[in-house]
Amino acid sequence: MTPFTYLKKTEKQRMKDLFTLLEIPSVSAKSEHKKDIADCAKWLNNHLKSIGFKSRVYKTPGHPIVYAEYMVDKKLPTVLYYGHYDVQPPEPLELWNSPPFKPVIRAGYIYARGACDDKGQTFAQIKGLEAVIKTTGTLPVNIKFLIEGEEETHSVNLPKFIRQNKKMLKGDIVVVSDTAQFNKNLPAVTYGLRGIASVEIFVYGPNRDVHSGSFGGAIANPVNVLCSMVGQLHDKNGKVTIPGFYKDVKNLTKWERAQFKKLPYKASDYKKALGLNDLQGEKGYSTYERAWTRPTCDVNGIKGGYQGEGAKTIIPSMASCKITMRLVPNQDPKDICNRFEKFFLKIAPKSVRVKVDKHGGAKGVVVPTDGPWLEASGRAIKAGFGKAPVFMREGGSIPIVGDFKEILGLDTLLIGFGQQDDNIHSPNERFRIIDFERGCKTSAVLPVELAKVKK
Ligand code: BES
Ligand code: ZN
Repeated sequence: MTPFTYLKKTEKQRMKDLFTLLEIPSVSAKSEHKKDIADCAKWLNNHLKSIGFKSRVYKTPGHPIVYAEYMVDKKLPTVLYYGHYDVQPPEPLELWNSPPFKPVIRAGYIYARGACDDKGQTFAQIKGLEAVIKTTGTLPVNIKFLIEGEEETHSVNLPKFIRQNKKMLKGDIVVVSDTAQFNKNLPAVTYGLRGIASVEIFVYGPNRDVHSGSFGGAIANPVNVLCSMVGQLHDKNGKVTIPGFYKDVKNLTKWERAQFKKLPYKASDYKKALGLNDLQGEKGYSTYERAWTRPTCDVNGIKGGYQGEGAKTIIPSMASCKITMRLVPNQDPKDICNRFEKFFLKIAPKSVRVKVDKHGGAKGVVVPTDGPWLEASGRAIKAGFGKAPVFMREGGSIPIVGDFKEILGLDTLLIGFGQQDDNIHSPNERFRIIDFERGCKTSAVLPVELAKVKK
């Protein structure tokens, strides 16, 4: 039996197992899900064991890490697979057409939180490897599998784990399936991710909510002030106004600009898919250049004042907001957080008190766009998808990818199976069944192709 026929034969059970995995509400951001997260780690650990991996769950000060190995021969290349089993909070629940942790199939899609990001994709990797193990009795490369539970909350504990277990994690290349293809008919190798820097801002006004009639006009309103300060973060050309924000940003290469121009793109389709009348961004850059290669500054959520039913006439005593800045390679998250704080405190009027909490972040990465590893992944994608991949970058972040290079000296192959419209981080997250199947197939061919690379 070939790995592909094995995948076909085990289709039903594979889907059943994926559903079981998706039913576990492993939301890393919320402490009420601590036990679910631990259960999810346990489930994966047992599943990897049942396939023949030596697997273990490692505790961290946060959520546990699952680490598994399938070692064949020291002379063969060693591939470090990375994925995450934690998911984003599913809220707002009322916008889901079916409950986020009750996976269902509708019109060729699996709907559930984590279906694509990243349980579905990690599971495709595991099942691809299983197909090779079960049909050939072994693997053509050594595999190390690292699955964490804190990716969606900045992978806070993973760098330390990697530093402490450098020898155990030693390998030749990293493989991550946590990105998307270019579109439904065009698979992609992703060679760049943006980094991220996060801050939370608190604006304090009067020592309690006060009557807006009695005091309005005489004192600063923290919500008004916060909005005005946020409004000062961009100029009319869409550039971020924080002094020094662009100082470490490198210009796009000619090769990249040319590469992106070759990708199919229609502004009208892009707008339509998002229900927008127009797009907006930094002057002088195309849509993909803006979303993949330029840094940004965006409010993720803003809070303050009365949100309940009906009216309440107050000047709220405080306002707050969460901001993330997407970074590009060479920008340092700490430096950017410091610059943000300095600027924000400088523009704050004396009539309010402003506090900026800096949560740090992760660096952006670009990985080589040539070389034998990349060629091997291109061949695997072609076998799985029936089409050669194009090159693209992504606007999202996978914090640990930069650390793999810095701590372990390893490059990463970003082989994503999702689609841009899989609604990751949104209501109705989904994963096309055909993409899950292609992901399993690609993952079954990948070790064979990687084995051809001379160590
Ligand atoms: N899978 C995403 C990264 C991604 C996003 C890839 C969009 C391709 C397209 C990942 O799980 C993610 O969302 N990461 C977070 C990291 C953050 C919380 C530090 C992100 O980018 O917001
Ligand atoms: Zn993810």
